[in-house]
Amino acid sequence: MRVLVTGGAGFIGSHVVEALAGDGHEPVVLDVRGPAGGDVRNPEAVRRALRGVDAVCHQAAMVGLGDGVADAAEYVSRNDLGTAVLLAGMAEAGVRRLVLAGSMVVYGEGRYECAVHGVVRPGPRAVSDLDAGRFEPVCPRCGRALLPGLVGEDAPADPRNVYATTKLAQEHLAAAWARSAGGSAVSLRYHNVYGPRMPRDTPYAGVASFFRSALARGEAPRVFEDGGQRRDFVHVRDVAAANVTALAADAAPGVLTVYNTGSGEPHTVGEMARSLAAAHGGPEPVVAGEYRLGDVRHITADSGRLRAELGWTPRVSFEEGIREFAHAEPRTAADA
Ligand SMILES: NC(=O)c1ccc[n+]([C@@H]2O[C@H](COP(=O)([O-])OP(=O)(O)OC[C@H]3O[C@@H](n4cnc5c(N)ncnc54)[C@H](O)[C@@H]3O)[C@@H](O)[C@H]2O)c1
Ligand SMILES: [Zn+2]
Repeated sequence: MRVLVTGGAGFIGSHVVEALAGDGHEPVVLDVRGPAGGDVRNPEAVRRALRGVDAVCHQAAMVGLGDGVADAAEYVSRNDLGTAVLLAGMAEAGVRRLVLAGSMVVYGEGRYECAVHGVVRPGPRAVSDLDAGRFEPVCPRCGRALLPGLVGEDAPADPRNVYATTKLAQEHLAAAWARSAGGSAVSLRYHNVYGPRMPRDTPYAGVASFFRSALARGEAPRVFEDGGQRRDFVHVRDVAAANVTALAADAAPGVLTVYNTGSGEPHTVGEMARSLAAAHGGPEPVVAGEYRLGDVRHITADSGRLRAELGWTPRVSFEEGIREFAHAEPRTAADA
């Protein structure tokens, strides 16, 4: 297959390109970065990139938590206008297969159970609670402590920041395209992806990258809240393999199918910091009680559907991935 990888010069996209080539496919890249730069918002660039293409793997996006609403227009432009221009180009060119880089952020806070009220949806955490070091969300009905669980694909969407809103809109656009163009669309809702070539610590980078950069400077990683936030850290090579699997699978036409894409093994942010510091040879992390308002407390997915329906299995264990990441070169400022 000839596959257009948008964002193919980025962290995940570059691994998708390698995985496709390694599997005998022919990847072509559309990315604003790099010598042959092109913007997904530019219909002419999209038209050129789609020539002779069988499928599209859409990774291009502006990522991260961002800056409140100050950069909202740029997020919407790159992520949603960009997706719309790409889909219109695909409809015109008759390309009927799409795999989209989705995200767990569309769920907002994870799944919680109250001993009395069953599955509940806690609201955004109050500043007064966070300031007092009360990080765990409580039952919105009775105030009891909650038990965090695994989020399934059928959980309601509840985007809590601008980035999350644009990732959800990408899926709605892809669903509209699938319906009207008879295409098949798959959204892989990635968990926290980490591994080689992860961007350095910009305001948009993931937590593993912040920790890694602190260690490289000889500084202690600073763990937010109390370090008990649960996440699913999935290795970038496993995510790339999931993309290749989804591109090659016969997805249902006319609809969008979504799959949670995680390792299936939740870890806390504190554990990640400790493991990474140990693999790096210190210094030990500090837990400082700082917080970011847009963060969610626990979010861990049930990725069983991707395993069961497409036969994908993650291969890089947490221990092995962290060991490698502790010594990997981050993407340099010149590449970023
Ligand atoms: N890293 C994660 O943990 C994570 C988690 C969930 C979802 N995702 C999604 O995965 C995808 C890839 O993210 P990443 O972590 O590799 O980020 P990244 O920033 O490394 O890669 C994104 C790439 O898209 C390119 N790009 C941005 N706007 C563009 C435009 N208008 N036209 C063409 N190219 C453009 C950038 O130049 C960059 O190379 C994104 O869609 C992101 O939302 C990432
Ligand atoms: Zn309750």
